[in-house]
Amino acid sequence: MTDIAYRPATSDDAAFLRRMLAEAFNWRGDSDFDPAVLNRPEAAHYIDGWMTATDFGVIAERSGHPAGAAWARFLPASDRGYGYVADNIPELTLAVAPEHRGNRIGPALLEALVDQGRRLDLPGISLSVEDGNLARKLYQRQGFIVVGRDGDSDTLLKRYRP
Ligand SMILES: CC(C)(COP(=O)(O)OP(=O)(O)OC[C@H]1O[C@@H](n2cnc3c(N)ncnc32)[C@H](O)[C@@H]1OP(=O)(O)O)[C@@H](O)C(=O)NCCC(=O)NCCS
Repeated sequence: MTDIAYRPATSDDAAFLRRMLAEAFNWRGDSDFDPAVLNRPEAAHYIDGWMTATDFGVIAERSGHPAGAAWARFLPASDRGYGYVADNIPELTLAVAPEHRGNRIGPALLEALVDQGRRLDLPGISLSVEDGNLARKLYQRQGFIVVGRDGDSDTLLKRYRP
């Protein structure tokens, strides 16, 4: 679509990223989802203090308004995320606002974030995806592979080099 633009995320995007974090945690779209979940350490550490010196991300804007985001943050073993692989591999979060889904914004955000990671010369980017989430298809198309399993989720990794 011609009215969609992509730009690097900035520190001003914290509130929108928090909205997108809620979408990622509530990917099933449960109407009784409690936003207080985002205050728990295991969720908050994906966004608290945005934006640190090593955070990076991409924002999709539709007609000038934020419509989706992909971002990556390094979480150490001592504060590991659901998709932890290594301290030098950041973990990705991806979500598109419900009213903008189905327009290929998600795949474009993912590709742009993967490009950012490549330019930073990272070894890879990882994430966790629960069983049944159609986002898995996007990740596989982008070259992510399963490297671990935790409960009902897989850990996926996009390696930039062997
Ligand atoms: C996963 C997600 C990022 C995909 O973004 P998107 O911009 O909708 O991506 P696409 O447009 O490529 O659509 C993805 C699939 O959903 C289908 N779809 C179409 N309309 C849709 C709609 N209104 N809502 C949801 N999905 C739709 C598409 O057909 C597509 O399937 P296909 O690839 O087989 O054609 C988005 O659905 C989302 O934010 N989900 C909730 C958060 C989430 O799960 N994040 C990942 C956590 S690991």
